[in-house]
Amino acid sequence: MKNKLKLITNLWLLLTLLCIGCVQSQPASTPTAPPPPSSTPLPAAPTATATLPVEIEAAYQNPQLPIEARVADLLARMTLAEKIGQMTQVEKNSIQKDDLTTQAIGSLLSGGGGYPTPNTPAAWARMVNEFQEYALRSRLGIPLIYGVDAVHGHNNVAGAVIFPHNIGLGAANDPELMARIGRVTAAEMAATGVYWDFAPVVAVSQDIRWGRTYEGYSENTALVATLGTAYLRGLQGDSLADPATVLGTPKHYVGDGGTAWGSAAIGTYHLDTGVTEVDEATLRAVHLSPYVAAIEAGAQSIMISYSSWGGSKLHGQKYLITEVLKGELGFEGFTVSDWGGIDRIAPDYYDAVVTAINAGVDMAMVPFDYERYIATVTRAVEAGDISTERIDDAVRRILRVKFALGLFEQPFAAEMLLAEVGSPAHRAVAREAVAKSLVLLKNAEETLPLPTDLPRLYVTGQAADDIGQQCGGWTIEWQGKLGDITPGTTILQAIRASVAATTTVDYDPTGRFETVQGQVPVCIAVVGETPYAEGVGDRADLALSVNDVRMLERLRARCDQLVVVLISGRPLIVTEQIDYWDALVAAWLPGTEGQGVADGLFGARPFTGKLPYTWPRAMEQLPLSRLTADGGAPLFPFGYGLER
Ligand code: GLC
Repeated sequence: MKNKLKLITNLWLLLTLLCIGCVQSQPASTPTAPPPPSSTPLPAAPTATATLPVEIEAAYQNPQLPIEARVADLLARMTLAEKIGQMTQVEKNSIQKDDLTTQAIGSLLSGGGGYPTPNTPAAWARMVNEFQEYALRSRLGIPLIYGVDAVHGHNNVAGAVIFPHNIGLGAANDPELMARIGRVTAAEMAATGVYWDFAPVVAVSQDIRWGRTYEGYSENTALVATLGTAYLRGLQGDSLADPATVLGTPKHYVGDGGTAWGSAAIGTYHLDTGVTEVDEATLRAVHLSPYVAAIEAGAQSIMISYSSWGGSKLHGQKYLITEVLKGELGFEGFTVSDWGGIDRIAPDYYDAVVTAINAGVDMAMVPFDYERYIATVTRAVEAGDISTERIDDAVRRILRVKFALGLFEQPFAAEMLLAEVGSPAHRAVAREAVAKSLVLLKNAEETLPLPTDLPRLYVTGQAADDIGQQCGGWTIEWQGKLGDITPGTTILQAIRASVAATTTVDYDPTGRFETVQGQVPVCIAVVGETPYAEGVGDRADLALSVNDVRMLERLRARCDQLVVVLISGRPLIVTEQIDYWDALVAAWLPGTEGQGVADGLFGARPFTGKLPYTWPRAMEQLPLSRLTADGGAPLFPFGYGLER
């Protein structure tokens, strides 16, 4: 009986769609809103012998039907205003909640640091669920999709496990681990109702002076493609409709990691948002191929880059977005602008919006003045500057993903997963990732691994006992923040937990030996960069800070063995200092599980990490192209790493 019902339903649907087709092909006047879905019985298919079930929902509400049929049915019911609403993404502090109902806004986001108060997983779930309730009250009940930058765990959420940033995962180079990180991140996101992750970054950074170097896996295209797709598969699982999976978003399309120094579009930046000055063959070979791999791996959303290529902003590039990404590469998902990315295309906002949507941008991360955006798009459609076909194409792509995510059936937080947020099992995955991300760059006389039963250890450096510093940017706050910003294990705490009870561990963040006399057998200095994100981290000089250099010189005089652990979002210039260090470990930005660093230092796990970026000897060797061109030897080549 059930199969017969399904057959009848499909036959009926076919007829319904034929009827809808004739509605949809009518000219884009200001159509009266078609009747909202109701339980009124629909006309029986003339050929059907049995009567249709009395109560049947509108086709788009029927999860038994193919997604394309649900999309077609819903699209045909939508007004222009509702379609444009779906193409609009608003920052959560800027939305009037009733507008979610009256204007069918398609998406909200939390930018970096966009957390509720209190910042707890449960409060996140309450916040997102409340927004969703407003959206579901809209005329057609289209659920919203909520997005965040979960770029190394659900990193805006206090208590979530924070993984190493991608540069460390590039050093680990373990696709199976990447998939597990994706699954853990997705579960922690789904618990809070956030089903859209603006990650992975698949930038192929060619200049480590870029503040987003650490968000990328590597300078090597193949490595970026392998790890980015592994993570995407982990996020999205076998089915996007699985309650513990989320939508991933490879970004930023395309060439964001290849911009030229001094070409930034934003005043204080140097590289970020700049111009990618390469020919098309290089753009395709170095920067485009991770997107080819991501589409093959099931990418359904891609974020457009702030950067420029070929004389124009990516946000306005019809050739690269529509002809290449959607045409040549067959991308069937939807594109989303970057934060205010449309505004930067042209000084005139109307021109910018028309250019971006006609170029193939489907959803605008406005993120603030959504009224102006909606009014502008409406005016452009009514003026014929944006066609209704382009609007329908954008909305079809967005709805296709919302149906695939199962949002119509499960729009709210998967709160049964809340207990897993920050769980020991999740933290164990991060601890493993940290240990695998460590790169041993120097190990004179096999200093490492250290014995766990030394009589005493002298630990120095602010970075040794600062969760915020070891997590880096995109952690709780957009730019990250020093201090005890979220639960985790600092490197100092991990060292204390790794050594014997008989070992005395002295900690002095400044290394002034105020608590110890005479020579010290073994010192561990944890030094490096303080948190930053995006172009704020663009730096012309990658030398160690003056304070770190002075502290390391003090240690040189007083320590028989000096182990240096570098906390940084990229290689730093250490050429002048490395000769008087006995061991050097690049720990990158390890996240909350500092125990993984101690696991390497004391031999609980072997050093296996390999450099995902070339390590320059001097600033003059940057960008990478200059290094490879003039043949000057780097301090350490791509792929270097001692094993122990
Ligand atoms: C930022 C970033 C982008 C991020 C977006 C939302 O400016 O460029 O990576 O996804 O805004 O936070």
